[in-house]
Amino acid sequence: MLDMNTNRRDLPPEIARRRTFAIISHPDAGKTTLTEKFLLFGGAIQMAGQVRAKGEARRTRSDFMAMEKDRGISVSASAMSFDFKEFRFNLVDTPGHSDFSEDTYRTLTAVDAAVMVIDGAKGVESQTQKLFEVCRLRDLPILTFCNKMDRESRDVFEIIDEIQENLAIDVTPASWPIGIGRDFIGCYDILRDRLELMDRADRNRVAESIEINGLDDPKLAEHVPANLLEKLREDLEMVRELLPPLDPKLMAEGSLTPIWFGSAINSFGVKELMEGIAKYGPEPQIQRAEPRQILPEEDKVSGFVFKVQANMDPKHRDRVAFVRLASGHFERGMKLTHVRSKKPMAITNPVMFLAADRELAEEAWAGDIIGIPNHGQLRIGDTLTEGEALRVTGIPSFAPELLQGVRAGDPMKAKHLEKALMQFAEEGAAKVFKPAIGSGFIVGVVGQLQFEVLASRIELEYGLPVRFEATQFTSARWVNGARQAVDKFTESNKQHIAHDHDGDIVYLTRLQWDIDRVERDYPEVTLTATKEMM
Ligand code: G4P
Repeated sequence: MLDMNTNRRDLPPEIARRRTFAIISHPDAGKTTLTEKFLLFGGAIQMAGQVRAKGEARRTRSDFMAMEKDRGISVSASAMSFDFKEFRFNLVDTPGHSDFSEDTYRTLTAVDAAVMVIDGAKGVESQTQKLFEVCRLRDLPILTFCNKMDRESRDVFEIIDEIQENLAIDVTPASWPIGIGRDFIGCYDILRDRLELMDRADRNRVAESIEINGLDDPKLAEHVPANLLEKLREDLEMVRELLPPLDPKLMAEGSLTPIWFGSAINSFGVKELMEGIAKYGPEPQIQRAEPRQILPEEDKVSGFVFKVQANMDPKHRDRVAFVRLASGHFERGMKLTHVRSKKPMAITNPVMFLAADRELAEEAWAGDIIGIPNHGQLRIGDTLTEGEALRVTGIPSFAPELLQGVRAGDPMKAKHLEKALMQFAEEGAAKVFKPAIGSGFIVGVVGQLQFEVLASRIELEYGLPVRFEATQFTSARWVNGARQAVDKFTESNKQHIAHDHDGDIVYLTRLQWDIDRVERDYPEVTLTATKEMM
């Protein structure tokens, strides 16, 4: 049994063994390959296939969905669970493309840690950096996997330096690579004084591991060529002098990241990383909520919606709300209160995505992700409890950075378009604004690519060709303030006013100047770029 480094030993064992995390990386660093190897070592699939889907087409959709399609294995689109030793891992998918940063942010509210995958030849790339910043906002613990060590990579100290410099986080090596590129033979496991040798011939096998009694053990020389051994000893000497040791407390606070070196495609270093997740995870954490925070070990069940996915099966207009359980032991059939509407909901057919299959979840514990099929009652940010009026906080909605008008190709279908748009807005795929003056809708997104994805989804899922067109507006702000002040403001600025899908008032802007003007002329109203979802 791995000794768990939990700081809260009073958790029920079922909760203490859960590890809920996401993988963050730049496209091509190896997230898909690593996910597949996790499943392989978790016993969820028998044979890893090759990653076939390539490029943008795959990344505009969920990577997991693409895997499902390409490999015929059934994985979910948003979260997968599998066992590793005595642990239950819940891996939550983050959208691969930078255009989906808002969705990514929300996903990261549902996890307790993130695995950062970097390409050993490329180091910290732009998307990694962005995602890392999001993790930093929540002080998420980060475990780093430096991938593709079987190929020519950068100098290891240089990579570590770059992480420390660019991401302002301390790095501590959990393993150390021996040889580089074609000479790479494996790693020295610093945490456990073991030699791990890579088997290049069999990509699906766990590598050979040799117990070593410190760096002076003569066994080392039997397995490592003299020149590499000398370099290894020198490197580790420097590591000891220059880099901090692994301090679980600093790691838990997100100020220190352990780094493992490996090659996902060769299944090398993956098991050690999984053991790292098991050991330093951490276990399900306390959830911020109002009027009080939620402890995972509370008897009563609570959870919150962090993602809604519609039309998972285009033949049925079903929606699945993904709920992260914040506390308690959930059992199928339970009645939970939907706090926003104060209505009870019987959760009769929740699904869980045990990597092999989408299954009915008979039970689940704090830390788990369950999917609840529904007809639109459940929205992002909603809290479910056993009756108490709690509201999970910290799930924001961001102001869009790009706006376009949208029109149905066939003007007779305007009503259908409205329905489709509202649904995407509720799903969180876009912001939809209905201007106070005139007809039509304005759609707001964070990245250009989202317009294309939306257009193709509206056509595919609703059989409705649409046209996006330029608008004079570039951004939107939510309007807050006392009722009278807001009424006066909207009355005199009608041409800028619209309502979002919740009916909240927004001010559409053309230039920063517009915002400055409002701040100057209407000191009693405030414009905000984020809205807390509720
Ligand atoms: P992503 O999800 O982060 O975008 O990355 P993905 O796993 O799809 O991997 C990107 C490419 O890197 C793939 O090659 C994959 O085979 C390769 N790769 C992943 N891990 C390793 C590794 O440890 N070593 C090496 N050398 N390559 C690795 P591809 O050419 O895009 O696809 P394919 O032709 O291999 O299917």
